[in-house]
Amino acid sequence: MLWEDKAILFSILLVYSSSQVLASGESQEDGQCAELNNTRWQEYRQQRVEVQYLLLTRKNPDCAQRFDQDSVSKPTSYFNTSRPTKVIIHGFSTQAKRETVYTSSRRLTRSALGRRPSWVTDLAQALLGAQDANVVVVDWIYGASFAYNLVVENYKEVALQISVLVNQLQQRHGCRLESFHLIGVSLGAHVAGFVGTVFEGKIGRITGLDPAGPMFKGADTYDRLDPTDALFVDAIHTDSDHFGISIPVGHVDFFLNGGMDQTGCARSRFASIFLLFPVYGYVICDHMRALHVYMSALNGTCQLMGIPCASYEDFLKGSCVDCGVFKGRCPAIGLQEKSGIAMSPIPEQQKVFLLTTSSAPFCAHHILLTLEVSPLDKSAEVEVTLTNWSHGTEHRFRLKPEATVYRRVLAHPAALCQIDSIRLKNTGARLYRQGDVHVKSVCVSELPLHRHEAPLCVNDIDIRRGVPWSHDFVQVCGTS
Ligand SMILES: *[C@@H]1O[C@H](CO)[C@@H](O)[C@H](O)[C@H]1NC(C)=O
Ligand SMILES: *[C@@H]1O[C@H](CO)[C@@H](O)[C@H](O)[C@H]1NC(C)=O
Ligand SMILES: *[C@@H]1O[C@H](CO)[C@@H](O)[C@H](O)[C@H]1NC(C)=O
Ligand SMILES: *[C@@H]1O[C@H](CO)[C@@H](O)[C@H](O)[C@H]1NC(C)=O
Repeated sequence: MLWEDKAILFSILLVYSSSQVLASGESQEDGQCAELNNTRWQEYRQQRVEVQYLLLTRKNPDCAQRFDQDSVSKPTSYFNTSRPTKVIIHGFSTQAKRETVYTSSRRLTRSALGRRPSWVTDLAQALLGAQDANVVVVDWIYGASFAYNLVVENYKEVALQISVLVNQLQQRHGCRLESFHLIGVSLGAHVAGFVGTVFEGKIGRITGLDPAGPMFKGADTYDRLDPTDALFVDAIHTDSDHFGISIPVGHVDFFLNGGMDQTGCARSRFASIFLLFPVYGYVICDHMRALHVYMSALNGTCQLMGIPCASYEDFLKGSCVDCGVFKGRCPAIGLQEKSGIAMSPIPEQQKVFLLTTSSAPFCAHHILLTLEVSPLDKSAEVEVTLTNWSHGTEHRFRLKPEATVYRRVLAHPAALCQIDSIRLKNTGARLYRQGDVHVKSVCVSELPLHRHEAPLCVNDIDIRRGVPWSHDFVQVCGTS
């Protein structure tokens, strides 16, 4: 960062610090849970960004305490300065509906907007379930208008106010910068990134949940979340073709199902309209998937591990099969230190890919399917189905005369050792006129590949049109 920028940030921080101290003083009455729709926040002036904080801990997971730098020292505060602090920052598109009303005095009246986004409590509770921490929820209210570009203009002001709080907690209450973990959703990810910029990357961790894309993709790293913003930055991408950002912004960037369209989210050819009129329907499902997957990972029912690869296409083609880039440890979504990566320095802006199922807990096993056929003189199509008792996963290979080896990574709900049958079908009869297909081998293995594990293979199979072939495996899942 240029020293001029630093100087400007620092003076802003000072100005804010003094005004914050003057402005605070309103205290929360004991025995009351703080809500985002406090009367004080019912109305607000144009051009102002209002920020308030709520605190949730394991002592008060359901009943938020109003929080600011002064309330820390109060005996009634549940904030524990020796515990790590998680800061949740929501974004622009968290509200279900826009119900703003322009009144005659040209003020905006908050009606629905005063409602806390319903996921905030869920995320706070999931965090508390995973770690005994202080969870601070940042509630910021947009100034002026809800037009996306105007909100974007306000995000740095929000970041500066949060910086003041963090600065006070550090200076006056001895909280270590490394103990802060900022979790930003959508635009909130860039808010977190700017807080990180203010602290010159010394904040412990920033997690971006589908960091906002429009207007940020081409932005300077100073203006958006990037790996220099914290000691460790991770991001989950689920809607990079609409609300999310398509470029990597952290040390590790998880691209779920390619990072664009999520399984189980309805597609609409009118989807792009929702960008202009944010009536969140179809698109928001993809965008908010990052949050739901993150919460599910915190729940800890199963591991959501990613495989580093240059592109989603390469990943699906089976070109990336292990985590060599990370010295063999695949990064996982969640609170694990550095996403589980045990090397230093951590490579930056590494895209990692994973497939998910369509509902919680979202975990899928990555099964690499390799099909080798004898040379064909005409095109053909072979459908491969892997099943265990209840679940089947299928893939159709389009076979061409010029190639004999085909690879594909599939999401399967069960582990490789639970797959109990494989079925091959010559499906291209009408279209392709290819008669028999001779399969030299069909193999399945689970990613990440380990050198000592041989794939499960069946060799030398002739599959005729209309005569499906299947093979049952008798396998036992090991303990490792
Ligand atoms: C604030 O929210 C609570 C529940 O979330 C509701 O019971 C109460 O009526 C709301 N107050 C106002 C003034 O909207
Ligand atoms: C604060 O946290 C520390 C470390 O977890 C713990 O030992 C201590 O008892 C906590 N203090 C209070 C008042 O809960
Ligand atoms: C977390 O797990 C509990 C049960 O263990 C479940 O009720 C809850 O829905 C889960 N939450 C998420 C977000 O997966
Ligand atoms: C089939 O897969 C599911 C996982 O989705 C697993 O719970 C079940 O035990 C598997 N069945 C067998 C027979 O392995």
